[in-house]
Amino acid sequence: MECGCWDLKIREDHRLLDSQREALKGFLKDPTGPKDRRVHLSKILDSLGPSLRLHLQREEETLFPAFDRLLGGSSGTIPLLRTEHDHLRDLLDRLVRLLEDRENTSWETISETGDVLAELLEDHEEKESRFITDTLEHSLKPDELTRLARQFQHAASCGCREES
Ligand SMILES: [Fe+2]
Ligand SMILES: [Fe+2]
Repeated sequence: MECGCWDLKIREDHRLLDSQREALKGFLKDPTGPKDRRVHLSKILDSLGPSLRLHLQREEETLFPAFDRLLGGSSGTIPLLRTEHDHLRDLLDRLVRLLEDRENTSWETISETGDVLAELLEDHEEKESRFITDTLEHSLKPDELTRLARQFQHAASCGCREES
C-alpha cells in the first residue's frame, strides 16, 4: 500500500455525509421561523439525498460483495446493513413526500422523521467503519484493497464497472 489510505474515497464519502447529517440535525434542533423552514429543509435534503443514495449504491456494488466473498456470505452483518440502506432510502423518500404535502403534514411529523433519518445514518456509518472497513483492511492484500477502492470510486457514477 503506497500511502496506507486505500479507503480514502470511502472516508471522503463518510465525511461528506457526516457534515450533511450534522446540518440536518442542527437545523431540526434550531429551525428557522415557521414560514420558510420547509424550504430550508428541502435544500438540506437536496444536498444530502443524492450523496447518500450514491454512497449506498457504491457500498452495495463493491464493499458488501467483497465482504460476502471474504466470509462466504455467512455473516449476518451484510443483510443487516442492506436492510438499513433500504430503511434510509425509505426515510429520505418519506421526508420528501411529507415536505411536499403542505396541507396535511405537521412540522412535528417532518422533524421527527428527519431525526430518525439522522440517527439511523449515524449509527449505520459507525457500524460500517467498525465491521466492514476494518475487516477488509485486515483480511485483503494491498493490491486487492487498491482494486476495491477503485471499484468503489467508479461504482454507480460512470457506468464503467471493473471485473472483480
Ligand atoms: Fe452503508
Ligand atoms: Fe457508508
